[in-house]
Amino acid sequence: MLRHVISAKQFDHDTLADIFSTAKILKNKLSERRVVKLAVDRILMTVFLEPSTRTRLSFVYAMKRLAGDVVDFGPEEVTSRAKGESFEDTMRMLDGYAPDVIVLRSREVGAAEKASKIVRCPVINAGDGWNEHPTQALLDVYTIWEQLGKVDGLRIAIMGDLRYGRTPSSLSYLLAKYRDITFYYVAPPQLQIREEVLKEVSHHTVHQLSRLEEIRDEVDVLYVTRLQKERLGDENLYQQLRGSYVVTVDLLKKLRKIPLIMHPLPRVDELSTEVDALPQAKYFVQAENGVYVRAALLTKLLNLDTSVLHSG
Ligand code: NCD
Repeated sequence: MLRHVISAKQFDHDTLADIFSTAKILKNKLSERRVVKLAVDRILMTVFLEPSTRTRLSFVYAMKRLAGDVVDFGPEEVTSRAKGESFEDTMRMLDGYAPDVIVLRSREVGAAEKASKIVRCPVINAGDGWNEHPTQALLDVYTIWEQLGKVDGLRIAIMGDLRYGRTPSSLSYLLAKYRDITFYYVAPPQLQIREEVLKEVSHHTVHQLSRLEEIRDEVDVLYVTRLQKERLGDENLYQQLRGSYVVTVDLLKKLRKIPLIMHPLPRVDELSTEVDALPQAKYFVQAENGVYVRAALLTKLLNLDTSVLHSG
């Protein structure tokens, strides 16, 4: 039973299969109608203490399309956080309003876990600093499963800022739950994947490379990420690394076959817009799937009666 969603490490194989099959049914149903009334009278609260477009909006859309309500904490600078209110006090106060679920993004590693110990409702980690972004990993793996029909046995290259990004770690933790994955971590040495992530995937085949062209095998998925400028903290390093990896159609043609191209978005310099026209480019499908996967996750966390999904 899921209570809070703090880390991608929490999910087991059966829970993933359950969430993905619900997401698939919801995707179907919501293509025919605007709303499926599963979350009537429930309130989701979004608390984003760091910028976000897709994660916040897809949770809002997910809840609205389940006929639930959403309350947004608002931008930090217009709340009492700007007057110096502590995180703990803010959480205690929000708990008093009795939301049914809180979706939290913070610059601070461990913030969601901390909140989960203060409030009574489920807390969903929507990104805690460089650490984790478990619901992004859910929609990433869902998209892989939807597009390729399987996850076991796949070869996946994860490229870009693997050190300061939180999507490569959560994606790795989730993929590690499947069988026989081959990981190719492609990044300049300063941005290579963190030790703690390598430990979690050590029962799979792992390669670390600095350039995409070094991959000799056929890969099924290329997952690109942007340089996390806000966490590098060093403008010189940013300028030095900026543009050090850029995925273009020419570069992709050097691979044995063009894999599924994925990206959590937003992109900056690392993924050329000319790639968008390739049939393998799936980053906007990923973003769309975020609504259905998050809606499916909400049905579990809120214990919603989903029997209507299976009839008719
Ligand atoms: C990611 C994040 O916030 O970590 N964005 C997202 O949620 N889709 C990736 C990023 O910001 O680079």
